[in-house]
Order: sequence, then C-alpha cells, then structure tokens
Amino acid sequence: MTVVVSRLSGHLGAEIQGVDLASELSNAAFAQILDAFNAHSLVVFRDQTLDPAQQVAFSRRFGPAIEHLLEGFRMAENPEVFVVSNLTEDGTPKGKPKGAIYAGQYWHSDLSYMAEPAMASMLHAKRVPSAGGDTMFAAMHAAYDALSDPMKAFLSGLTACHDYTHAYETVFSKLPNRPPMTDEQKAKVPPVDHPVVRRHPATGRPALFVNPGFTRRINGLAEDESRAILDFLFTHTTRHEFVHRHHWRPGDVVMWDNRALMHRAVADYDMSEARHMHRTTIAGDAPVAAG
Ligand code: OGA
Ligand code: MN
Repeated sequence: MTVVVSRLSGHLGAEIQGVDLASELSNAAFAQILDAFNAHSLVVFRDQTLDPAQQVAFSRRFGPAIEHLLEGFRMAENPEVFVVSNLTEDGTPKGKPKGAIYAGQYWHSDLSYMAEPAMASMLHAKRVPSAGGDTMFAAMHAAYDALSDPMKAFLSGLTACHDYTHAYETVFSKLPNRPPMTDEQKAKVPPVDHPVVRRHPATGRPALFVNPGFTRRINGLAEDESRAILDFLFTHTTRHEFVHRHHWRPGDVVMWDNRALMHRAVADYDMSEARHMHRTTIAGDAPVAAG
C-alpha cells in the first residue's frame, strides 16, 4: 500500500490516496496520515465505506473519541458518533430528526467552548445533495502569519471568553430544531478563557484561536473594543486566500484540525435532498498561548 498525499490549496488541505480506512492500517501508514494531518490541517479520503464502529476505531488512532453534549444527536449503539443529517426517522419533514440538521452553519472551531477543546473532527459523508452543501475551512496559522507585527504583539498575551450559550443566543436561536438548553446541559459548559493566539502542540506554529460561533469577547478590553477587534479578526481570517472549500461526494472521510482551522457548513442546498453524515470528535488539550 502506497500512501499518496496531494495538497488541495495554498494554506490547508491534502487528499490522501491509497488507503482503505476500513482495513487494518499499519503503524507506518498511520504515521504518514498523522504527518499529513499535522502539516496540512485537513485530510480528505475519497470512496470510503466505514461503519460507525470502524469510524470510531480509526478516530481513536488519533486520541480518545468524545461523546457530544447534545445526547439527542448521538447514535444509540455508538455514542461517539454524532449524526449530522437533514433526514427524519419516518421520512416526513415533521418526523423526529435523525441528527443535527443545521449543524455548523457559522464559522467555528468544534468545542472551543470547552476547557479542553476538540483536537480534531471527522465527517464521513453517507448521502450528499446533488449540488451544494459544501463545507468551508479557514487556515488560522496562515491568517496569524499575515498580521502585522504590531497587531501580533497586541494580541499576544490576550485571552478570550468562549461560551456555548453565545451560539444559542445568536445563530441557534433561529433554528427550529434546537430546543433551549436544559440547566443540566448549561452546567456542563460554563464560559472558558483561551489564549487568542495558541501554539500548535505538534508543529509549534501559532494560530489565531477565536471564532464567531463561540467567542463572546476578548478579556480586558472594553466591550466595543473587543467587538471591533473580533470583527476585524473574523473578516481577516475568512479572506479567500485562507479558505478552502470541500465539495462532498458520498464516501468522503474528511478530518480537520480544530487547533488550526475554523469551519462552517454552507446552507445552499435543496433541503428535500438528503445530506447525512457521521461525525466523530477527538479529544484535545487545553490551548497553550503562543509567544
Ligand atoms: C460539524 C460541522 C459542518 C457540515 O459537524 O462539526 O460543523 O458541513 N459540520 O456539516
Ligand atoms: Mn463543526
């Protein structure tokens, strides 16, 4: 088996060919995948057929797989698998949803609202619409590198507050499929502070670590200062040259590094067409400030 790695765009992404993820991967093949993941922040495998247990097993090669807070969207037999889907159990629009229907339609980094945010997430596409429904990724290392030295100096040492309820108050509140969080769920996700610039544990590269979904504010700044700086950073990090757009085919396995990228789903597809994905999430460490 020869692992072939081809880059997908200037600042992130690589397609990996020559691997069947459902088979037993040698340590040597896995080491090449891990190197590509660390170097390119996003790896794409085409034409895979993983059942949920196989996806969890492959995910665990990278680290512990974690179960999502929203138990309603977890797969009963494999709770480490979170279902992202617009299908319902009985096939009617009003039926019980099979998964999170409007997942991630805003720029975010998975679980940045946790003290130990997700290292990586993996989506395995089972059914995709005939057009649209892409996922976009933004390179937070390259975006940091492109800042001026005075801006880098200003940001170094700052922390920002990340809060899951921020997304509920903004984007989620408009969604039909998202009942308000229970007090018990809220208690599991108190606001947390993270460095605005974090050092990647594997590569040592600095990356911006703020996102519109979950970052409420930069600590220590006045409210309007924080808003202005965050808005600037969100515009800057999503400049076209930092963004890669993945167009899904059934069978795709896409894994991304939440320490190095933001991502968002593009809600441009015909909702009468199925989009059904299995997501696994790999645990990460508490972010460490760069510099
Ligand atoms: C996610 C997510 C985006 C998509 O599952 O974490 O953001 O395109 N999904 O489904
Ligand atoms: Mn996400």
